[in-house]
This record gives sequence, C-alpha cells and structure tokens, in this order.
Amino acid sequence: MDRDTLLARLVLVVGPDNVLTGADVSSRATHFWDASPLTAAAIVRPADTTQTAAVLKLCHEAGQVVVTHGGATGLVKGHASTSNDIVLSMERMNAIDAVDLTGRTVTVGAGAILQNVQQAAEEAGLQLGLDLGARGSCTIGGNISTNAGGLSVLRYGMTREQVLGLEVVLADGTTLSSLNRMMKNNAGYDLKQLFIGSEGTLGVITRAVLRLRPATPAVATALLAFDSFDQVTATLAHLSHALNGTLDAYEVIWQPFYALNTDPERDGSSPSPLPRDYALYAIVESRGSDADETASSFEQALGNALENELITDAVIVQSERERQTIWHIREHIDIALQHDPVFVYDISLPITDMQQYVDNILAELQIRWPDVILYVYGHLADGNLHVLVAPPGGQDLDAEEKARWHEYSNQLIYQPLQSLGGSISAEHGIGLSKKPYLSLSRSAAEILLMQGLKHTLDPSGILNPGKIID
Ligand code: LAC
Ligand code: ZN
Repeated sequence: MDRDTLLARLVLVVGPDNVLTGADVSSRATHFWDASPLTAAAIVRPADTTQTAAVLKLCHEAGQVVVTHGGATGLVKGHASTSNDIVLSMERMNAIDAVDLTGRTVTVGAGAILQNVQQAAEEAGLQLGLDLGARGSCTIGGNISTNAGGLSVLRYGMTREQVLGLEVVLADGTTLSSLNRMMKNNAGYDLKQLFIGSEGTLGVITRAVLRLRPATPAVATALLAFDSFDQVTATLAHLSHALNGTLDAYEVIWQPFYALNTDPERDGSSPSPLPRDYALYAIVESRGSDADETASSFEQALGNALENELITDAVIVQSERERQTIWHIREHIDIALQHDPVFVYDISLPITDMQQYVDNILAELQIRWPDVILYVYGHLADGNLHVLVAPPGGQDLDAEEKARWHEYSNQLIYQPLQSLGGSISAEHGIGLSKKPYLSLSRSAAEILLMQGLKHTLDPSGILNPGKIID
C-alpha cells in the first residue's frame, strides 16, 4: 500500500478533518520548548479506541511507522518523528469519566491533560498522586507511557503507582482491555506494567483507570539551609519520621543553582529569604487535610530539627505568594539554560553516595574545564538529581565540536553511576537521547529481553522504532 492509498484509507476511518498534512503539520511545534516545525508525513487524530485500532491495523498492513504523541513535553526525544512517520495524536481522546468516590478511581482518555484530571479529582474531594511542572500541557497517556515522576513521588510513587488499569491498542490493531479498577488483582501477569514506561514502543495507550487519594488541601512549606550534606540526610530522616507520612516534597538545591536563581542582577530571579551562601538548601512541604494540624506539626518538627542543629537556617512560608516565590527558585531553570553550551541530566543514585558523587564529577570536569559550572538540584528523597554542566568558552564551537563536548560530559556523568547502582535516567526515560548509554544501567540480559518483548509485541517494528533500544 503506498502512502497516498494509506492516507485515503485513514481518512475513511477518522474523517478528513483528522488526517492533517502539509501546513497543518508544520504549523505545529516539534516540542514544547522547540518551536521548529513538526516533521511528519501526517498527523492522525482518532476519536476513540475503535478508531485507534483501525488506524493501527492499516498502518500495520502498510508497514507504516507510527509515533504516538501526547503533550510533547518529554525531555529525551522519545516522541521525535521523521517525514516518513505518522504522528498519532491522542488529543481528541481526552474524556474524563465520573469519579468513583468509594473505589477512589477515575477512568480517563489518554489525551486528557494532567491538570484537568487533577481538577476533576479535586472537585470530587479526592486527589491524583501525580504532579509535575508540565501539568498544563502533558497528557495522562504521555505520563503513563513515560512512567513520569515529578513532585509527589516521595509520597505517592511514580506514575506506575497511580495506574490500576489500562486499555492499549497493540501494533496489529488488537485492543487489549485491562481496565481493572481494583487495588488487588493477582490473576496472572500484570500486563499493563509492560506498557507503562515503554515510551510508545510496545503499544498505544488509549484509556486508563487511575487510583485517587484522599485530598490534602492544607499545605505547609519551608525553605531550609544547611552547612553539610550530613544535615540534609539527617533532616530527611527526622522529617519522614516526625511528619508520619505527610512529607510531600524534599527538594534539595546545591549552592551554585540557588545563588544563580536568587541573583538580584539576573532577570527572572527570585528574592532570597535566606543568605545565599549556605552549602545546601531544601524546599520541604507537608500536606494534610486540616490546616491547623498540618501547620502545627510541621512547625514542631522543624523546631526540633533546628534545636538539634540538623538545620542551620530556615524560613516557614506564610502565604501562597511566598510559597510560589520559593518554588520558583527550584523550578525556574531558564537562567541556567542561558549558558551555551549547557548539558542537562536526570540521574538517580543512592542518597548516601550523592555528595561524594557530586564532588567527584566536579573534580573530573575541572580537569578539562577548570572554570566549569556545575548546577545540582533535584528530588533528593527519591534518589533523583538533576545536574547541569556548563563548560565555559564553547559558545562559538561548531555543532560537531559541541557534540564532542557533550559526549565527554555524558561519559563523566554517567560512568560512575554504573558501579554505584544508579541510573542514567531517573524519571525522564531513554528515548533517543540516552539510548547509547542504556547498557550502563541495564544488563545485557535485560536489554536482550527488552528486544525480545519488542519483537513479540511489534514484529514489524512500526511503533516508535529506534527509541530506547535498537
Ligand atoms: C524537574 C524536571 C525537569 O524536576 O524533571 O524540574
Ligand atoms: Zn525532575
């Protein structure tokens, strides 16, 4: 079947308005942070699972590559497409069904925007245990296919932990409906887990049953400062215990990133409520159902930590505005991204090894680039750091030389993780960007089994081929 015949048959499935070509493709951006025109043979927008299955059946027959798209906010080129690919956009499949209050679940379409699902849960007096910066653009289907992490992993786990059931269309158009709504279901293999985090390479997620949690409208937030990493870990242990499971966030920032984002000379910086030269900072947040109770146990736990010198300095947030200002210090990476070049990482490793690791990679980087800037921050309690490497003097390099610098930096950042039992990808996935390094975090036997699963589920290799593994 040639491309035109295939497109004509796809039009019969989804209607002429939902097979986009030409300017209707290129007028879309490649990525949330990359305005260059999207490249694809066509964008196909099914209305429901039946249409998705029919689209995949046709693409399977035609040997047509399909790259499924959610909100295009991923960070590892997991949704990259070429001019020969069909982009399968789930944007029309955004239904959010009624919340089951007793069973604490909600069933949603893959194209539902995360923030809309959060809102639906809140309106029902519950909450979704998933939150991340891209909430206003990313979709549940994208969150699930990448097993997204984000800001509430410490308390609720990654996306995988929020999924009770899935409906998936396989490469050949078979619909696999595992829309389980129960907490417990040990009837054989839990097949949905195969698709969670598989980045669109094993099937197309069409609907999901999500687990919901009791609402925690009361929030208490503080910014802490430390002289040493030992204080950071001791405070984490203390707060986890004292707050009895209500600790929602423990985001740690090493001094260079804190100082940059609070530099009054820089556009977009935040005012710093504390001196800017402590070794380490943390944003901590506790959530509960009752405002007074949440605030008083938070203050008591922090007071004890200060008395015992686990914390050097602290400020407790007094208003939502102050809270936003403090989170801005952590979430605003635009200033750091002004460095050219700057290499961005998402890694995990045992918490106890973090400071040694950070010291070591800085020393190694300085051998080649004595004035290199290393920014480190992240979801410390999840064992997850984001690392930015900014080597000076590279702004005029050609693309090839820049790529060599990048590769050199990648080796320094990734290699030590292998012996530490860490991961080259804590929460962003592998996509295309990290594929060359997968063997540092997965054994040959693991990769072979991944390839075997890929071959079984997608024998002609039409689903997002070349991502994660070859
Ligand atoms: C963050 C994203 C980049 O934590 O993972 O800011
Ligand atoms: Zn993150």
